[in-house]
Amino acid sequence: MKYIRFEFGVALGVVLLVSLCIGSISGQSLIDPAIEAKVDSLLGKMTLEEKIGQLNQYSSTFDVTGPAPAAGSNKIRYEQIRKGQVGSMLNVVGADATRRAQQLAVENSRLGIPLILGLDVVHGYRTMFPIPLGEAASWDLDAIEASARVAGTEAAAAGLHWTFAPMVDICRDARWGRIMEGAGEDPHLGAQVAAARVKGFQGSSLSALDTIAACAKHYAAYGFAEAGRDYNTVDISIQTLRNIALPPFKAAVDAGVATLMNAFNEIGGVPATASVHLQRKILKGEWEFDGFVVSDWGSIGELITHGIAKDNVDAALLAITAGSDMDMESSAYVQTLADLVKSGRVEEKLIDDSVRRILRIKFLLGLFDAPYGYSNNEREEQVILSAGHLLTSRDIARKSIVLLKNDGNLLPLNKNRGTIAVIGPLAADKDAPLGSWRAQAITNSAVSLLEGINEAVGSNARVLYSEGAKLAIGQRNFLQSSTYNENDKSGFQAAVETAQKADVVVLAIGEDAWQTGEGRSQVEIGLKGVQEELLKEIYKANKNVVVVLMAGRPLVINWMAENVPAILNTWHLGSQAGHAIADVLFGDYNPSGKLPVSFPRHGGQLPLYYNHKSTGRPTGGSIVFWSHYTDALNTPLYPFGFGLSYTNFEYSDIRLSSETIDMGGELRVTVGLTNTGKRAGAEVVQLYVRDLVGSVTRPVKELKGFQKIELASGQNREVTFTLTSEKLAFYTRNGKWEAEPGRFKVWVGTNSQEGKEAEFALH
Ligand code: BGC
Repeated sequence: MKYIRFEFGVALGVVLLVSLCIGSISGQSLIDPAIEAKVDSLLGKMTLEEKIGQLNQYSSTFDVTGPAPAAGSNKIRYEQIRKGQVGSMLNVVGADATRRAQQLAVENSRLGIPLILGLDVVHGYRTMFPIPLGEAASWDLDAIEASARVAGTEAAAAGLHWTFAPMVDICRDARWGRIMEGAGEDPHLGAQVAAARVKGFQGSSLSALDTIAACAKHYAAYGFAEAGRDYNTVDISIQTLRNIALPPFKAAVDAGVATLMNAFNEIGGVPATASVHLQRKILKGEWEFDGFVVSDWGSIGELITHGIAKDNVDAALLAITAGSDMDMESSAYVQTLADLVKSGRVEEKLIDDSVRRILRIKFLLGLFDAPYGYSNNEREEQVILSAGHLLTSRDIARKSIVLLKNDGNLLPLNKNRGTIAVIGPLAADKDAPLGSWRAQAITNSAVSLLEGINEAVGSNARVLYSEGAKLAIGQRNFLQSSTYNENDKSGFQAAVETAQKADVVVLAIGEDAWQTGEGRSQVEIGLKGVQEELLKEIYKANKNVVVVLMAGRPLVINWMAENVPAILNTWHLGSQAGHAIADVLFGDYNPSGKLPVSFPRHGGQLPLYYNHKSTGRPTGGSIVFWSHYTDALNTPLYPFGFGLSYTNFEYSDIRLSSETIDMGGELRVTVGLTNTGKRAGAEVVQLYVRDLVGSVTRPVKELKGFQKIELASGQNREVTFTLTSEKLAFYTRNGKWEAEPGRFKVWVGTNSQEGKEAEFALH
């Protein structure tokens, strides 16, 4: 894909603290009778061409396969906007540009219907937050909601009405580059995070000028691309679809999400964009979703390359029949739907339904009352990159850091004495922490690790720096995959000497921002280039190594995990990365993050996930006939839910309020949690169950609840979870979402592999 910005720019805004007002439209319907009346009245005035226009979305910036749009093609699109043949644009940014785009529609088209303007605001608009996978590691739903709130506020101030986020695709295969955009491998955590993000973007009212419509994507199962290769075929069972892939989408719908985006992939032979089952039956039928579905970029046209449509006409017919309401950038609807209706192949009531959904969201956003309301230069100046937004970013960034190893309590470091060597290709990098899918982030605008450490230490300790080696060479951008430095070790010697002079080394290695994201799948998910060699050389020179691992996915890091004493997994943390990492390195913040995804020992284990099935032969010994690899363990290096703290938490045994739950009833599960260490800290207490016998096989463990508990040193607290029979429900052999009677194991503990155990029965 080629992104070529040709017209609209944006002015950089500054300053001022904007208060966070976290509201929720959770559970609220998108149906407001007064608005429905307006929608109907407007629909009654529209010609067929105007209706189809509402279903057509263009980008201001791109051309999918070819070079930059030919001179004049923009003019044609602008003419179409003037004639009411375009309902939405994406990639128009900034108060001025969005106002100009809106004027084209509102002041020229016959009915003056405003455009809905969207952008991928995935983890921040200009103030960047941790990549979503990183934020999920915070397990802090308030912080995640606050992050989306800020992103929405900045985007709204830049004239946008709509973000193509949250991305809620569950992913079990870290080769997939888009794993960075979601909340990891678990449907329960994924559902909670999806709802928090929707609430954050949409606030308490879509019509408020600092909220935007959210879009849960990519519906559905895009994260299950075979072998982790982006856009690849998906072939999963109905149980995996229903029990694993769909719950975050359902949670987003329950939280009032205004829109969904469908997916590029096929599932079981039917591309999601053409899937009646997914869109009409489940989403708009069972879940009663009243918002609209936008296709993914060109995905209606791609029905032809999938080999399910012979031409654009066929593709449009399949997509509109399936319930894809808006056509992003394939022009199939605008070119063919009118004839399809006139020839009787598509009933006009299908078009009306899609138009109604789109107009509904436009009315809810307040676009008819104030089409230019969002495009406000003053607000844009005040809000974007405000001090308060940067603080919110730093807060969640440090909460997202996961302490993977800390032998001999090497961490936290003392910032008041000694010599700290800051080494590595990512140590002074101000760009990688911004991550992939970075909306309007300014290149090289993150606080680097080196800057963060220098500011924290001041003149109290000595800080030395050496890059050691480059990670990526040449161009680093959204369009191309980066080239990695496989040979140049000329910086090693200086780095080794720097390490020798220091009491401790902080080594920043991992992934470039453009190693993950769309179109960036990899077969090797270890350290690229010469980084592992650099690590070994530095470790030879100084054993006190703290690795700061920056990455968009879980990496294979066996040598590191075995040898170096301390590892902080810091993802790509956004604008305030360096400060957030320094906060943790020096103990100003006690790490509390937990992995939302398993860390494999080897790429060959993928897909790898904690909530796997038992198989018929789960264990064995020296005879080979059991489910295992002969050259590697089955287990992850670090399991889902894992993360250490600078303090220690002790769990008491589990107490159950009863040994049984009745259908429709509930059970309380309680543990005592004590902070037995010397520092205050937060622990994510996790509850897992196993349904021992089901009508279909059940996972060996499933997360069903979590609570983030803060305790002072020595403090003790009871932590209680309420388990309802509804929480034990799943998509059964009957094709229903229901709980089945029987025995269950329950664990409460610090990660998916360790926990206190009890048993109960559901009657
Ligand atoms: C991506 C979507 C994104 C869209 C618009 C597509 O290539 O798959 O996630 O929202 O582009 O930028």
